[in-house]
Amino acid sequence: MASQDDLSDQELDTSTLLEKSWRRPSAQKCKTNCLRLSLLTLSLAFNAVLLGCVFLLFLRGRQPSYENGFASDLKSVRSQIRLTEYTFSGGVDLDQDGRFFVSQEGHQYVGDPTLTPGIDDAWDHLQAGLNIDLDGDDDANLTGTTYQWPDTGRYFTGLEVFHSLHCLNRLRQALYPNFYQVFSNPDDPSRHDHIGHCINHIRQALQCHADVTPMKWKRVGDKLILDTATRHTCRDFAKIHDWARQRQTRFDNIASVANGSIFIVD
Ligand SMILES: *[C@@H]1O[C@H](CO)[C@@H](O)[C@H](O)[C@H]1NC(C)=O
Ligand SMILES: *[C@@H]1O[C@H](CO)[C@@H](O)[C@H](O)[C@H]1NC(C)=O
Repeated sequence: MASQDDLSDQELDTSTLLEKSWRRPSAQKCKTNCLRLSLLTLSLAFNAVLLGCVFLLFLRGRQPSYENGFASDLKSVRSQIRLTEYTFSGGVDLDQDGRFFVSQEGHQYVGDPTLTPGIDDAWDHLQAGLNIDLDGDDDANLTGTTYQWPDTGRYFTGLEVFHSLHCLNRLRQALYPNFYQVFSNPDDPSRHDHIGHCINHIRQALQCHADVTPMKWKRVGDKLILDTATRHTCRDFAKIHDWARQRQTRFDNIASVANGSIFIVD
């Protein structure tokens, strides 16, 4: 005969059994679900981190830099900027007998113009981007920032590197006053201080770019000679030169320049 205690024990057993029978699948379900949930959370977190990294890389790729360009650079040429490693040439060296000699690389840009045919063509080619015209619909908005030709509506501009080269060429020409009459035009208001202007301009350009490539010295006999053939990280000049050359100002199409009513002072 079952006592009340027994009954309650039985009931207890039954309820425990019931609970067990209910709990076991539920616990298993939870285990499976929890695993799924954990995996999902983990995968979501992983994807978020991955997305974050991609976004950071994207931002980094667009951050103003020597390679990406800066806000002060002409916007429409920024896509042309590439970095390149370049070894400088044209250094002074000493031969085995202690005599100085200069590397002949870059010789087309230097020397006595009467003995260096083509030297002016070489410099003219180098300065291709000194005067360029841009359309209003080029992605650089030059409205109100520079002169707009009344003839064509195009904006008269240029890239600073070419102005620095132009200044350097003026200094070179000033070394041969009997050959070049660049400063002889009495209408040129800057002729008296053009050399000073160019020295100061190139000084600032060099300071602005502050190339911190280390200098290399080598000992030859009793002399320490600077080895200028060092490797530098540069913007690829050829690409920028190409871009600029395609946009050169055609002065012969501009009546006010062609007829001399506008005189360009740079
Ligand atoms: C260009 O700049 C000018 C002057 O800042 C401004 O008035 C004009 O709306 C700009 N145009 C475009 C297309 O952004
Ligand atoms: C030169 O050309 C400009 C533009 O066409 C014109 O306005 C100007 O009157 C011309 N000047 C002379 C001296 O011919």
